[in-house]
Amino acid sequence: MKTATPASIGKVWLVGAGPGDADLLTLKAARLVGEADVVVYDNLVGGDVLKLARPDCQLIYAGKKAANHTLPQPEINDLLIDLARLGKTVVRLKGGDPFIFGRGGEEMAALRAAGIEVGVVPGVTAAAGCAAAAGFPLTHRHHAQSAVFVTGHRQHGGEIIDWPALSRTGQTLVFYMGIARAPEIATELIAHGVPGDMPAAVIRHGTLPDQQILITTLAALTPDLATSGIRPPALIIVGRTVALSPLWEG
Ligand SMILES: C[S@@+](CC[C@H](N)C(=O)[O-])C[C@H]1O[C@@H](n2cnc3c(N)ncnc32)[C@H](O)[C@@H]1O
Repeated sequence: MKTATPASIGKVWLVGAGPGDADLLTLKAARLVGEADVVVYDNLVGGDVLKLARPDCQLIYAGKKAANHTLPQPEINDLLIDLARLGKTVVRLKGGDPFIFGRGGEEMAALRAAGIEVGVVPGVTAAAGCAAAAGFPLTHRHHAQSAVFVTGHRQHGGEIIDWPALSRTGQTLVFYMGIARAPEIATELIAHGVPGDMPAAVIRHGTLPDQQILITTLAALTPDLATSGIRPPALIIVGRTVALSPLWEG
């Protein structure tokens, strides 16, 4: 059986804000931010994107608080449901794309379970934005036939990373949230057969005016990262296509 959402209940848009540069927003994302009654945003959403909101729009920060704790996911879900039940048009603005390591799937499921209408607007994910910012492609018919997006974030209870699969030739690896695990990533990939001279990049705040780009090799990743001082949020990208960056000196 299907039931229609009552007209008095608002709608929640899960909107991708892209990697930071407001010019990389989709037209639909920009329009929805400008129309929203409430924008609930994360810490990776660029400040210029929020300037598109109406002067009377309620801006709610759901990212890291002063104590450096993220608002727990159930609280964010409840907040979105409560706002929609007040009849608000809500934009849930997330860095990059809402469905790539953004918990967009969890929020969508919670909203649907509560009977709230959900719309999704894709955004430029960090992998695409950072590779473009550093001037190299993620795939290339001569160098990489696939690009793999991997989370470096360790869930409670650990997780299994399929290092043999990640170590196969012909792919570009993009590690989100992987800075703290850079030594493990380099060690495991080399142990599973990836050459130490494989090009590697670390990009922080890609597409933003303060972006930092490190172009190195897998073998030199850990010491070069330490010397660079690059901190999260950043991506680690490993693969032959990285050598197509104008910054590659190999
Ligand atoms: C929780 S994930 C969210 C990813 C996002 N949904 C996307 O599609 O890009 C956050 C991680 O994305 C990466 N990230 C997001 N924006 C970035 C940027 N502008 N530059 C570098 N890395 C970025 C970092 O690895 C960061 O720790």
